[in-house]
Amino acid sequence: MSAAAEYKKIRTAVFPVAGLGTRFLPATKDIPKEMMPLIDRPLIHHGVDEAVASGCSRVVFVTGQGKESICRYFEPSFELTALLRERGKAELADAVDSIYRLAEFHYAYQAKPLGLGHAVLCAEEFCRDEYFGLLLPDDVMIAEPTALSQLEAVREKYDGSVLCLEEVAPEDVSRYGIVDAEEIEPGVYRVRGLVEKPKREEAPSRLAIMGRYLLSPKIFKHLKNLKRGAGGEYQLTDAIASLLEEEPVYATIYKGQRLDCGVKEGWIAATVVKALEDEKLREIVLKAVEDFKAAHGA
Ligand code: G1P
Repeated sequence: MSAAAEYKKIRTAVFPVAGLGTRFLPATKDIPKEMMPLIDRPLIHHGVDEAVASGCSRVVFVTGQGKESICRYFEPSFELTALLRERGKAELADAVDSIYRLAEFHYAYQAKPLGLGHAVLCAEEFCRDEYFGLLLPDDVMIAEPTALSQLEAVREKYDGSVLCLEEVAPEDVSRYGIVDAEEIEPGVYRVRGLVEKPKREEAPSRLAIMGRYLLSPKIFKHLKNLKRGAGGEYQLTDAIASLLEEEPVYATIYKGQRLDCGVKEGWIAATVVKALEDEKLREIVLKAVEDFKAAHGA
């Protein structure tokens, strides 16, 4: 980074939440998937907690039809909290109040689900001039420091957009954006190219992009020039490939655990892992497993 350039930490986190959640039907027929609880709070709340823990003070939700409950969840509930206080439940009222105080919330609207690239473009007016974080709430990241903070550390050192990577099995490359990259220090890469959901035999590596990004505001210019890509959608991966021609893009293998709440199996695993993290819940889970084994001779 040039000595003159002033380093500013990101303050805005963008969450695309306009998806239809079809993999979770019928549960998501009338509730957005992002509002389904993972232990004691909706999935989206876990993502917002990570953004706040990473230093973000502004949250932008790119919402769509039927997602009004997400907006309501992050609004104050003065009637509810007044009632709770009247009934002597101040602690519960404080917990409810802490939600709207987490950050400054903004909403962009994506009228049609035209892809992740299109969703990010919808958030442009909130992040035009600054680097911003992009968090896909399906990926629940358990990491200390947070996954987003790990990307920030790379940006601070190298100055550029940063992607979050995991090495996946060969049979899984077709589910992700895959990078072609050169390792510049252990676990940190300079990206040479990217391809969205390649066939196994065409993938340039097994380094897959996970749902955390730190993006330069220059990405918007490239998003505007996008053509439809994989699956007929406007792909963020293609816009990042185009951004590469203008400025460097880096990537890092995050240190931590990812729980893929985009599929039922991952959601179940996430529930178990989150419960095991909590001392009281851990006992309940382990006892339930023991009781099950005893009852079924497993
Ligand atoms: C999106 C991105 C993909 C990335 C993935 C991470 O795909 O397009 O590049 O690897 O998120 O979860 P989606 O899961 O929306 O199909």
